[in-house]
Amino acid sequence: MESRFARRMDGLRASEIRELLKVTERPEVISLAGGLPAAELFPVEELKAVALRVLEEHGRSAMQYSTTEGHLPLRAWIARRMTERLGATTNVDDVLITSGSQQAIDLTGKLFLDEGDVVLCESPTYLGALNAFRAYQPRFMEVPTDDEGMIVSELERRLADVRRVKLVYVVPDFQNPTGRTWSLERRRRFMEVVRRHGVTVVEDCPYSEVRFEGMPIPPLKSMDAAGQVVFLGTFSKVFCPGFRIGWAAASRPLVEKYVLAKQGSDLHTSTISQMEIATYLSMFDIDANLRRIREVYRARRDAMIRALEQELPASARFTRPQGGLFLWVELPPNVNARELLQRCLERGVVFVPGGSFFPDGGHENTIRLNYSNMPEERIAEGMRRLGAAVREMLAQSSAGARRAV
Ligand SMILES: Cc1ncc(COP(=O)(O)O)c(C=O)c1O
Repeated sequence: MESRFARRMDGLRASEIRELLKVTERPEVISLAGGLPAAELFPVEELKAVALRVLEEHGRSAMQYSTTEGHLPLRAWIARRMTERLGATTNVDDVLITSGSQQAIDLTGKLFLDEGDVVLCESPTYLGALNAFRAYQPRFMEVPTDDEGMIVSELERRLADVRRVKLVYVVPDFQNPTGRTWSLERRRRFMEVVRRHGVTVVEDCPYSEVRFEGMPIPPLKSMDAAGQVVFLGTFSKVFCPGFRIGWAAASRPLVEKYVLAKQGSDLHTSTISQMEIATYLSMFDIDANLRRIREVYRARRDAMIRALEQELPASARFTRPQGGLFLWVELPPNVNARELLQRCLERGVVFVPGGSFFPDGGHENTIRLNYSNMPEERIAEGMRRLGAAVREMLAQSSAGARRAV
């Protein structure tokens, strides 16, 4: 029988990254592709004690259905953390626990987007958000960005000229894919503009606490006087992604809508996962764990930058992120990253070509590199192989150009 799918499935494609991750399961492959945290930092011994404590304290209720909003002690911890650490005053009722922040992105699409509505996003932006929103059939419109964030005059022009803008989706801290962070001044100016236009902003913030250099910059949510910012957080990068625990923090009327949308999706997030994280937070010091994460990622970023400086031609440019998991490379214009990836696969190293992070396409000479998931010597070796493949392509293209002359 031939299945007849909904029209919304037409625009959905298998994520390039998910496909690549299949190759990276082979241990000999150096993967700089996925956004995987360093598994050796997951606190296994502590989590054994946590699992026991949860079963002793909560018994069968840990295995029972629970509320859609989420486990109260966990919501309370998140509200406190957002208020005290991020300067975004948050009440426990403003927090909804979700199955990873990825679910919150999907629920955002379900809540706001009708076919043909416009989502404004950074250029480039997080591929997982594009894929989640695509199911709701919006039009994406890229807003140019520079090293300080979204270019506010370009945003303003689109907000004034384009009809049906429903959402502005942004990742201001150590962005996936570029590793860039918005300056404070840019955040303030961005908030002035969106306030004037009364548009909903989704601030996707998985990486802000993974800062290993420089001073923290307050989130947009901390400047949100009108209740128009939906802040998305997650334990994936500061703890372990396998628990699938994230959250949306927003004004109460918005949270109530998210609750309705979530009920149709999964009723609630895993009860036992929520209890285990809340118990971990009460028994152990997550900041000590975070310090280890920052130390390891900083060393890996340094190793990658050192190797890139040696291996890439002078005409290549790359970002130097002060936190997060990724950096972004712009290769010479005649190097096509998808072709480069094929050559790198033969050499046992993988990365993500940058073109798929742009809803309008193009930018085929860009790549995203992840540095959190490989030890320094493997990063250095991966960069050597990447550098050799780039040089090979450049040599062939200049030989081709000479022949053409
Ligand atoms: C910008 C961004 N948002 C959301 C997510 C999803 O994270 P989670 O594991 O919380 O679903 C990721 C994961 O890499 C991400 O980079």
